[in-house]
Amino acid sequence: MQRSIQYNLDMAFPENRMRRLRRSDALRALVRETTLEPGDLIYPLFICPGKGVRNAVGSMPGVFNVSVDEAVREAEEAARLGIGGLLLFGLPEAKDEQGTGAWDENGIVQQALRALKQSDAAKKLVLIADVCLCEYTSHGHCGVVVEGREGFEVDNDPTLELLARTAVSQARAGADVVAPSDMMDGRVAAIRCALDASGLGMTPILSYASKFASAFYGPFREAADSAPQFGDRRSYQMDGANLREAMREIQLDLNEGADMILMKPAMPYLDVVRAARNRFGVPMGAYQVSGEYSMLQAAFEKGWLDRDRAILESLVGIRRAGADFIVTYFAQDAARLLG
Ligand code: PBG
Repeated sequence: MQRSIQYNLDMAFPENRMRRLRRSDALRALVRETTLEPGDLIYPLFICPGKGVRNAVGSMPGVFNVSVDEAVREAEEAARLGIGGLLLFGLPEAKDEQGTGAWDENGIVQQALRALKQSDAAKKLVLIADVCLCEYTSHGHCGVVVEGREGFEVDNDPTLELLARTAVSQARAGADVVAPSDMMDGRVAAIRCALDASGLGMTPILSYASKFASAFYGPFREAADSAPQFGDRRSYQMDGANLREAMREIQLDLNEGADMILMKPAMPYLDVVRAARNRFGVPMGAYQVSGEYSMLQAAFEKGWLDRDRAILESLVGIRRAGADFIVTYFAQDAARLLG
């Protein structure tokens, strides 16, 4: 009688022991599926007028409004840490109905871009300019406001021209990438067209393609002084319940010429990040927004969470969901932890 070895092809415990590969740091590193590097991180900066200014943002411990000279210093530190890039927001000297400060050749972000372009640090960083009007309009909305059926309306089509002007002036001032976050329909096409017509055909567009109307933007609106003075943003940003709609938004932005997409917020919407990763073969970032940052900071201050571990775990989670890069206020802290 022939005896054959019985291989159990569907091995269970005790043949299978998942803990074998968790026994040492070296083994865990060998089988780690997701990486996180400083170069994956984008650090947002809020630029304000003045010199030597570093104003703490109350609702975001560790985040400051910085003047242009201080922004250059932040850039130097970011470059030293190996961070991938900066995302620039502006707090203008004055606001008006149209948000003219957004495309002013001498606007606050344009000044910062010129100064950064002259520093050595910036050569190692991708300089991304946020394209939106909400920091520049007196009413705090992301576009032109008119009277409408619901009391007021953010008028889509007239806003496109203003966004396009903003993107062109930022690219002229030195932005490596422009990132529209306003959620007007057709803005990517309008911006692409205006860039191309201005000899800026090689400036890529990072579109906030999937941006939900979120309570987690609350602290940002203090940092950027951009809270709407009336109403909210639900007529232009997406309803948080909608995943299929997010896929349509992305598809449309890609059709209009977006080079990369940004998903926002990150942590409460990781399923949307994963769905986008599975569906679209384009470079994709996710934005760990102000509220995600501030709630973690609040827990750190209370001693309720291990700061270093929670920062890295939150970022690895976003990478694992499929984001190639992450915009995060923890960029410097995380880079130091990884370094
Ligand atoms: C501008 C803009 C916002 C954020 C990024 N770009 C605010 C908003 O849409 O209200 C939020 C970022 C954050 O919360 O960190 N439209």
